[in-house]
Amino acid sequence: MNLHVVILAAGKGTRMRSDLPKVLHHVAGKPLLSHVCDIARALRPGGIHVVYGHGGDLVPAALPHSDLSWVLQTEQLGTGHAVDQAMPGIEDDAAVLVLYGDVPLLGVPTLQTLVNKLANAPLAILTVALPDPDNYGRIVRSESGAVERIVEAKDASASELEINEINSGILAGRAGDLKRWLAGTSNENAQSEYYLTDVVELAVAEGSSVADVQASSEREALGVNSKQDLAMVERIFQSDEAQRLMQAGLTLRDPARFDIRGELTFGNDCVIDINVIVEGKVELGSNVSIGPNVILRDCVIADNAVIHANCVIEQATVGPGSLVGPFARLRPGAELVQDVHVGNFVEIKNSVVGTGSKANHLAYVGDSDVGAGVNIGAGTITANYDGANKHRTTIRDGASIGSNVVLVAPVTVGRDATVGAGSTIGKDAPDAQLTLTRARQVSVKGWKRPVKKPK
Ligand code: UD1
Ligand code: CA
Repeated sequence: MNLHVVILAAGKGTRMRSDLPKVLHHVAGKPLLSHVCDIARALRPGGIHVVYGHGGDLVPAALPHSDLSWVLQTEQLGTGHAVDQAMPGIEDDAAVLVLYGDVPLLGVPTLQTLVNKLANAPLAILTVALPDPDNYGRIVRSESGAVERIVEAKDASASELEINEINSGILAGRAGDLKRWLAGTSNENAQSEYYLTDVVELAVAEGSSVADVQASSEREALGVNSKQDLAMVERIFQSDEAQRLMQAGLTLRDPARFDIRGELTFGNDCVIDINVIVEGKVELGSNVSIGPNVILRDCVIADNAVIHANCVIEQATVGPGSLVGPFARLRPGAELVQDVHVGNFVEIKNSVVGTGSKANHLAYVGDSDVGAGVNIGAGTITANYDGANKHRTTIRDGASIGSNVVLVAPVTVGRDATVGAGSTIGKDAPDAQLTLTRARQVSVKGWKRPVKKPK
């Protein structure tokens, strides 16, 4: 059977108390709905149909992936009505898996088991036993244990509320049957909604058996309804990722104080200290050490590099053996070639810094090409912006720039040139010479401090 996944994402999420549609709230740096789409993709379905409504075009705009079919549910008349909106796009002999855009921790093997049940039954539901079933729909079984129907908490009797096996909301059904059952649902219930859950009773009434799969853990059924739920799901997701990375050989000083919001690849013997945030695509070579409180965003850190505490590295490349920080900032386009030292309060942007070069304290290097073996003194900056345009600075191999130098771009400092401390360099400094613009130091003999005039 060809599989189609229908993801329900039209609800408002009132309890989030937010203007943003619920499914667009982030877990691990991306919308809840993206996580559910990834789960759907792992099943390799013939189609993924996302039912959206609340928040309008904001939802499709946030997930511009060509493998998603968007189905607008103009009025949110219930989960059954929502699924029905997607059915015209699905052929009768297909299998349909219904997921919720706000239930992001489902395991792919569990869903595969659920879909496989359709070989022997036209409908299969995913249930879980909860100690405190709260607002979830309850699974009503016959004396023999067969699934008979699902009753919503708001429609349940006192004895039905005692049942602690609940409906995760996730189900799989044969498309032709689902279409027929959905056409038979009504909204005569406590919420005046067309309930998807009613298809269970309709299937049983036709004499069909309803298969069920128990979720492997409670968390699989966890839906996000509030900011507390969002935080809980985030923690579970983070802890899973940390476990997975450690299993693959990464040393995390404390997996509870590590946040990943993207993809991390790494070689052997990498160590990450506490409170590190990884965002986007981050690649670590082998034997890389990341100190505490570092933010890594879309960057490459090569073999044997050390990033000390409190650095922010974004869209930058740190070459092998380089030492960065503490308190350094590498901005987009920073490329440290090899064995480069970047110390505290140094900012580098859109610049290549060659092998063995150093900027150890308090410097700004922007829009520059820095050669190999260059030393940049404390307080030195490239003045790359004239108020209208950006200009490049070139510093050739072996140059030594003293402290507190302003390099007014466009400007070139020659090979093995030395620039004296405190200079403002607006013209090229020739190779192998000392260039300085500092005024000569004078001492005035007999000079007296002014004194206050007597009144
Ligand atoms: C639903 C189930 C309940 C189950 C629970 C699990 C029904 C009737 N009830 O209840 O048995 O225990 O989920 O979380 O199905 N949605 C739409 N369009 C609509 C209505 C809802 O797209 O018209 C979407 C929502 O955005 C959400 C999902 O469907 O992603 C579930 O809707 P929600 O209203 O939260 O259902 P529950 O009352 O929680
Ligand atoms: Ca819900």
